[in-house]
Amino acid sequence: MTQLFADLIIEHASQLLTLKTLKDKPVLVPVINDLGIIEDGSIAVDSETGRIVATGKTEEVLSLVTLKEGGKRLSARGKIVLPGFVDPHTHVVFGGSRIEEINMRLQGKTYQEIQQAGGGIHFTVSATRRAAKSDLLEKAEHILHAMLRHGTTTLETKSGYGLNTENELKSLEIIRELAINHVIDIVPTFLGAHLVPEEYLYDRKGYIKLLIEEMLPAIMDLAEFCDVFCEDKAFSIEEAREILLAGKACGLLPKIHAEQLSYLGGAELAAEVNAISADHLEYISLEGMKRMAEEKVVAVILPGATFFLNMERYPPVRDMIEKGVPVALATDYNAGSCWTYSMQMVMSLACIKLKMTPEEAIVASTINSACALKRENFIGSLETGKKADLLICDISDYTHMPFYFGTNQVLTVIKNGKIVFL
Ligand code: NIG
Ligand code: FE
Repeated sequence: MTQLFADLIIEHASQLLTLKTLKDKPVLVPVINDLGIIEDGSIAVDSETGRIVATGKTEEVLSLVTLKEGGKRLSARGKIVLPGFVDPHTHVVFGGSRIEEINMRLQGKTYQEIQQAGGGIHFTVSATRRAAKSDLLEKAEHILHAMLRHGTTTLETKSGYGLNTENELKSLEIIRELAINHVIDIVPTFLGAHLVPEEYLYDRKGYIKLLIEEMLPAIMDLAEFCDVFCEDKAFSIEEAREILLAGKACGLLPKIHAEQLSYLGGAELAAEVNAISADHLEYISLEGMKRMAEEKVVAVILPGATFFLNMERYPPVRDMIEKGVPVALATDYNAGSCWTYSMQMVMSLACIKLKMTPEEAIVASTINSACALKRENFIGSLETGKKADLLICDISDYTHMPFYFGTNQVLTVIKNGKIVFL
């Protein structure tokens, strides 16, 4: 047998959640019972390649793997080890602060009312346009640091607070800089269709023309996905279709903010244009679920936003799972409607409000969220050869995960085989 070498071995985990037994990716089965758990588990990683070298029972890994000189052994006794969280929907680049909106909402104003009164996305767009690139970058770095501390090792993030060519480009250049320099892996999405900006209020067609003819060619090398906020007061189904198809023609895969505040048919559109994901989905129809299941469009569920906007209606996730829609979870961290860094908090909400099982919540935050970013072959499970992105959590049994809502149980974050928080 070939001798394996590693420079970090984590041993004696009460449970090592490998998720490697999940064959269908994204995971479609209604109830997921098998997280590929190894009790008294161990994982060996190579920090030079940033890859996983071996997983198994502690005794087995220690007999197979030789620790390199200067290497480290870390005990995870009484703790669980699992893949780093993948957060497939965030908005981390924006200027200004909307902290005052919480008081308006506490006085009974809705998200839409605040937006109509000049708050919401429009407010953040003005502040983002005014802000210097270096300030936006610094602010985003601060957010990423907090997310990493909460266990997120890969995330998607969007432009969408620029809404003109100069500022969408500025936002995506910031995202590229973050992707190059930050330890978190970052996947960039173009969201020029977040809202029609105020200067185009009476010329929607003009804005869509600008987006398609000027913005898309300018940003196409800086983004992987093209997203549209498909909603009453944002973009209609027809407009979303036109934008997503134009994005596709520039090599950007479609994603949609769909059925968040009302039903428009965004889920059906996601299936029609072969979107990689449709996100939010509080008002999804049965037909929408059926079509998403058929086309394997991942449902990215954002219960933090539903909670923070104090909406009555949560997405019908149990129905989606039963109909075979692959479900992922994300924070939707953004300037106004959801300010959480924590995938752990999202998992608690998913179990308590959406009736997901702890197993489903873990799958939805790791391998399925990797699927929502087309990264399932590299991240999202602990398998030999995959990226060594993993967490040690101060929990002895994964089923306790939803119990600790709003707290950070992540003790150690390992990214690309290196300890970044201990
Ligand atoms: O995903 N739905 C639209 N966009 C964001 C909210 C953005 C904002 O309020 O600034 C979301 O929830
Ligand atoms: Fe969003």
